[in-house]
Amino acid sequence: MRVLGIETSCDETAAAVVARAPDGAPRILSNIVLSQIEDHAAFGGVVPEIAARAHVEAVDGVIEAALGEAGAKLSDLDAIAVTAGPGLIGGLIVGLMTAKALSAASGVPLVAVNHLEGHALTARLVEDVAFPYLLLLVSGGHTQIVEVRGVGDYRRLGSTIDDALGEAFDKTAKLLGLPYPGGPSVEEWAARGNARRFAFPRPLRGEARPDFSFSGLKTAVRQAANSIAPLSDQDVADICASFQQAIVETLQERLGKALTAFPAVEERVLVVAGGVAANKAIRAALEDSCAAAGFRLIAPPLALCTDNAAMIAWAGLERLAAGIEGEDAMTLAPRSRWPLDGGAAPVIGSGKRGAKA
Ligand code: KG4
Ligand code: ZN
Repeated sequence: MRVLGIETSCDETAAAVVARAPDGAPRILSNIVLSQIEDHAAFGGVVPEIAARAHVEAVDGVIEAALGEAGAKLSDLDAIAVTAGPGLIGGLIVGLMTAKALSAASGVPLVAVNHLEGHALTARLVEDVAFPYLLLLVSGGHTQIVEVRGVGDYRRLGSTIDDALGEAFDKTAKLLGLPYPGGPSVEEWAARGNARRFAFPRPLRGEARPDFSFSGLKTAVRQAANSIAPLSDQDVADICASFQQAIVETLQERLGKALTAFPAVEERVLVVAGGVAANKAIRAALEDSCAAAGFRLIAPPLALCTDNAAMIAWAGLERLAAGIEGEDAMTLAPRSRWPLDGGAAPVIGSGKRGAKA
């Protein structure tokens, strides 16, 4: 089976063709990602209208390139899988309408995919991992701990009540005058800093549910920076190091709750996904937490951890193989909000920030 994936929910225009052998083995035939980082850099974050326009301009060419590299024609495909949410509505409309048009013109069936399901199932695209497993998703748009029980079967254990983790890095970088995206800049400066100089808060420490909150930490960083302004290079490095240390300890403490509560299956696995997983201090901390709790850590290669369309094609394939129909994708409207776990209660304080947090 061969599926074309299309992803336009945030600031990457992406298309990919992924195949699945009868025994379930996946093969990525092409994986094209066009990043809009340069279009948004001057603003220190993603500007939705700029993103939507950039998707309109790029999406046809990106799909053509993905099909070309895979050596596939539309008529060779078993399905077209497209991100229908959650995300920025302008981009979602572009991707979904393009996919509907391709499906209507070619007769190839359309599968609507939840972007978060793409992240959740990526581990099975790169490794032979059985359900259930735990997923930590940390990116510019999402911060969640999810129990992945099966295709279409997810239980959200915790999520952020305000900013996403990558967003906290981006905002910290912005207020310190460091370039966007903030994560890599903060990590680089943190390497030269003193992580004990500033006692930043460890938000929600001790709370039973493994939820997250980062807006108080951001405020503490701002107050510390204002109180010693103008900042020397050493001040900036020390703030970055102390901020990153607060994040590392918070992640370990919050995740620890979920690791302990996870069922005693034969092999306990934690999968980490999202751009923040590139951070070496965070990765090392996750390795330590997993070793202590008897988990295997799976960190897919970064190109598949960050937003891409191979994960959307793969989620479509997993759905088809599992015989999960879903809603009629041709009449489906894009959804800026679309929780993976439909039964999860809204997180207290949620709604202040974007859908994907
Ligand atoms: O998954 P991603 O590429 O896109 C979405 O947000 O969907 O994640 C981007 C986020 C940005 O907020 C960026 O600052 C953060 O991941 N990030 C990092 C690092 N590299 C990227 N955060 C911390 N440390 C890093 N090394
Ligand atoms: Zn994402």
